[in-house]
Amino acid sequence: MTWRGRGRPSTVSVTVCPDGPVLVRGADQVIGEDGVIHEVRRPCVALCRCGRSSLAPWCDGTHKAVTSDAAERGVSGA
Ligand code: FES
Repeated sequence: MTWRGRGRPSTVSVTVCPDGPVLVRGADQVIGEDGVIHEVRRPCVALCRCGRSSLAPWCDGTHKAVTSDAAERGVSGA
């Protein structure tokens, strides 16, 4: 995925959440890996990093079930 600002220069910040999404603040658009452009209308959006969201590229919270299942199985990195 890529993201880019539009219009006047702005600051975009990216925060990686442990075992969770990537939070993007200040973006106007997010371009999915399929090339589809998603307009951003919020000051901050969460992008799925686990690949399980049904709302991709947005995080829908599914990562919580994925990481808790992995933790229960003792999978490292969960
Ligand atoms: S990171 Fe939240 S659903 Fe994938």
